[in-house]
Amino acid sequence: MSNASFELLPNSTPTADSIREDILANPGFGQYFTDHMAHVRWTLDAGWHGHQVRPYGPLTLDPAAAVLHYAQEIFEGIKAYRHADGSVWTFRPEKNAERFRRSARRLALPELSDADFIGSLEALLAQDHAWVPTPRSEADECSLYLRPFMIASEKFLGVRPAQEVDYYVIASPAAAYFKGGIEPVSIWLSEHYKRAAPGGTGFAKCGGNYAASLAAQKEASANGCGQVAFLDAAENKWIEELGGMNLFFVFKDGRIATPRLTDTILEGVTRDSVLTLARDEGLTPEERPISIDEWREGAASGEITEVFACGTAAVITPVGELVGEQERIRLAGDSGNPIAKRLRAKLLDLQYGRAEDTHGWLTRLV
Ligand code: COI
Repeated sequence: MSNASFELLPNSTPTADSIREDILANPGFGQYFTDHMAHVRWTLDAGWHGHQVRPYGPLTLDPAAAVLHYAQEIFEGIKAYRHADGSVWTFRPEKNAERFRRSARRLALPELSDADFIGSLEALLAQDHAWVPTPRSEADECSLYLRPFMIASEKFLGVRPAQEVDYYVIASPAAAYFKGGIEPVSIWLSEHYKRAAPGGTGFAKCGGNYAASLAAQKEASANGCGQVAFLDAAENKWIEELGGMNLFFVFKDGRIATPRLTDTILEGVTRDSVLTLARDEGLTPEERPISIDEWREGAASGEITEVFACGTAAVITPVGELVGEQERIRLAGDSGNPIAKRLRAKLLDLQYGRAEDTHGWLTRLV
């Protein structure tokens, strides 16, 4: 897939097999990293060059590197899955590659080709495939979480797009993002903080958006919630997303709705896949504005039967309640979240090669 081949600089002190096996048995999320990382450098004069897979380790950055001051940075999240025959696959990488280019344009960073994006995943996995965990059951969502990112590394304090940039991919074995797995999570309604505004960077996957969500995330934790729901900045009325996940609402008549995409919402690959799988299941997907009042009223009347969050890291996780400063929005009846569970099982079956890939969503890495 890649145009350029990645030069290999092998790690001379890789993790011992027994230590890696211990980590894979209980990886958590984002805590352990594999033995190598992929790297490609960009300069204004030379473009993308110097493709390498090299030992994982600390970066040397000049203290004046632009990313440290002006946050010119973007990233992606994508997983590698081990199938029963031992092969390793990833899911819709061209969607992530395309979003990465969209994010790059918004952050005035250079665009990386799809060939280099997918090629970097292939090159890293060629070395570190032993780090892809093997699922122990059909409910097990363990995988190798891949984190491509791009930073402005130029040593310069003037505010303008950097002329030296580095792209890396690191990889981290992962279990469920939420400790409770498929147990419903409580969500905090951020009434003061906004994540994104029209014309801003909300649709781009840039570190700044996540930094902007942290004060609200802190409020969420203080109130016993695992995530934050953000409303729109203009009217404080329309549901946007959770900051790291998209939201879906299931209605008792078979409709399944998610906020329509605007420039303040991240276009999730899982979100897009859920819309397709829902249609396959005979549900009626809708992308449209959804107000907080519709959530309140639909929950109280029983019109809304399920709410769930979805994302690469979170897969599909039911939302048990929305907690605000003055209220708790709970669904009238406890449905047991059958639709969320069914869609989640369909998605995992596809990703782990247990179901036929009728949409052509899988790419083999190893
Ligand atoms: C992902 O789902 O891959 C994300 O990027 C969310 C994350 C920041 C945990």
